Amino acid sequence: MKPFFITTAIDYTNAPPHIGHAYEKVLADVIARWHRERGRPVFFLTGVDQHGQKVQQSAEKAGMTPAEFAKDVTAKFKALWKKLGVDYDGWAETTDPRHIAAVQAVLQQLHDQGDVYKARHSGYYSVRQEQFLTDKERNDQGEFGPEWGEVVFIEEENWYFRLSKYRPWLAEHIASHPDFVFPSFRGSELANAVAKEAGDLCISRPKSRLGWGIELPFDRDFVTYVWFDALMNYVTFAGYRAAANAGLPDFERIWPCDAHVIGKDILVPAHGIYWPIMLKAAGFEVMPKLLVHGWWNLGGAKVSKSAGNVVDPDALADRYGCDALRYYLMRDIATGQDADFNEQRLRARYNADLANDLGNLVNRTVSMARRYRDGVLAGAPADKSEDAVALEALGSEAARRFDAAMDGYQVHSALEAVWELVAAANGFVESSAPWKLAKDPSQAARLDEVLCVLVEAARLAAALAHPVMPSSADRILAQLGFSGNLAPVWGAVADGHRVGEPTPVFPRLEDDQAV
Ligand code: ME8
Ligand code: MG
Repeated sequence: MKPFFITTAIDYTNAPPHIGHAYEKVLADVIARWHRERGRPVFFLTGVDQHGQKVQQSAEKAGMTPAEFAKDVTAKFKALWKKLGVDYDGWAETTDPRHIAAVQAVLQQLHDQGDVYKARHSGYYSVRQEQFLTDKERNDQGEFGPEWGEVVFIEEENWYFRLSKYRPWLAEHIASHPDFVFPSFRGSELANAVAKEAGDLCISRPKSRLGWGIELPFDRDFVTYVWFDALMNYVTFAGYRAAANAGLPDFERIWPCDAHVIGKDILVPAHGIYWPIMLKAAGFEVMPKLLVHGWWNLGGAKVSKSAGNVVDPDALADRYGCDALRYYLMRDIATGQDADFNEQRLRARYNADLANDLGNLVNRTVSMARRYRDGVLAGAPADKSEDAVALEALGSEAARRFDAAMDGYQVHSALEAVWELVAAANGFVESSAPWKLAKDPSQAARLDEVLCVLVEAARLAAALAHPVMPSSADRILAQLGFSGNLAPVWGAVADGHRVGEPTPVFPRLEDDQAV
C-alpha cells in the first residue's frame, strides 16, 4: 500500500522554535498517528531550513559561523520534537549533502532545458524577506511597509526561473483540482494570486552578498535562493534523485504527497506557486496536496520573535506535560482558522476536560471495579439494559464521527466527539449509581453490566484520543487493563477482564500551580 505521505514546512534555523512551530508539527503528528493506528503505512517527513541570509545574519550577531548557528538551533528543534512526542519517519536538514546534490541536479536540468536565464536587475530588496520588491509591494502611502524590514536598493546580475512559462498550466491545475488546497477558501486565494502574479523568479544570490547556500552547478559565483533550496526538501528527503544506498526511501513508492502541512503565510507565493511550478518544470505529473493551517496569535497580535512575544513550547510542556499541550493545541483551534494562544485557556481546558471529565471517568471506573469486583469484570450480558445500549450506540457514533472529522483534518471536531462520549459516560455513572447497586445483592448482575459499560466507554475514549495524547492514553489504557488496544470500536471487554491500578493521569491544577 502506498504510504500516506505527510510533510510539514521545514522550520527556519535563524531562531529557536515557538508555539506556531509546535502546533504545526503536532498537527502533522496527530494526522500521521491516526493513519498508522488505522493500519495505513505513513511516511511523515519534517525538518529544518538551514540556509539563507537570515541564518547568516543571526549567526553573525551571535559571533558564530552559519553552520555552527544552524546546527545549534537544529538541536533545539529536534529536542523539542522529542519532548512533544512528534514521531517523524524522515528528517530533512538542507545542509545534508544528499539534498545539495539533488537540488543541484534539478537546477542543472532547468538550466539545460532553458528554464533559467541570467539577467541584470536593479531594484529594491527586502533583507528580511530575502526577495526583490516591486511596486505591488508598496502600501497606500507608496512605501514598503515595516513588514519588509530593512529595504535596500541593489543592482546585480542574477539567474531567473521562467515561472511565467508555467503560470497558465498552474492556473488550469488549480481550477481542475479542487482538492489541491485545503481549506478551499485558501484555494480561491491562491487562484486570485496566480491570476495577478507576473514575472519570473530570481533564484540566485551572488556569493559576494550571501555565501550560505547551495552553489549553482552552472555558475559557481552564485548560490541558490533559499526558497528554491528549501522547497526541494519535500522530495529530496523522500528519495527523489537519491542514490540507491543513500538511506532514503524509494521515491516512486512514496509520491505523491497526500498532505503538505503549512501555515497560511507561506501558501502564496512559495508553496502555491513556486513549488508546483518547480515540480512541473522538473517533470512531475502528479502534484502534492496542500493543507494550510491558520495562525496562533497572542492577544490578536502575531506570534513573532521580533515582537518579543514568543511563547516557549518547551517551557509549556515542562509546566503542563507534553500531552496537555498537544491537547490544547489541537482542541482550541479549527484547522484552517486562526486562534488566540492563552495560557489561562490551556489551564482551564486541562482542569475541565482532562482532570475532571476524562481523568475522573477513568479514576472512578477503575476504583469501582476494584472496590466492588476486586478488579475482575464480567463480559456484557446477553440481554443489555436500555441505557447500556444507548451509551454503546453513542460510543459507536463518536468513533464514526471521530474518523470522519480526522479524514477532513478537523481534529478539534474529532476531539469534541470523544468528549461527548466522556460526558455521556460520566452521566451514566450518576444515573446508574453503582454505589447504590453495590449495597443491594439482587442488583449484582446490573452492577456487572454497569462496570463493563464504563470500562468500555473509557477505553474507547482513550483509544480515540490516542493520536492526540499518546502517552497519557497509553497510561489510561493500562489502568483499564488494556495495553495497545486502540481499536476504534465498542466491545473490548471480555468475561474475566482485569483492570489495573488507578493513578491520576491528569492531577488537578490549583491556582498558579504547574503539574
Ligand atoms: O516559513 N502559528 O519557516 P518558519 C501557526 N522555513 N503557525 C506558524 C506560526 C504561528 N504563529 N508562525 C509560524 C518558514 N508558523 C520556511 C518554510 S518550507 C520549504 C520553508 C508556521 O520557521 C509557518 O506558517 O518561519 C510555517 O508553516 C512554519 O511554522 C515554519 O515557519
Ligand atoms: Mg516565517
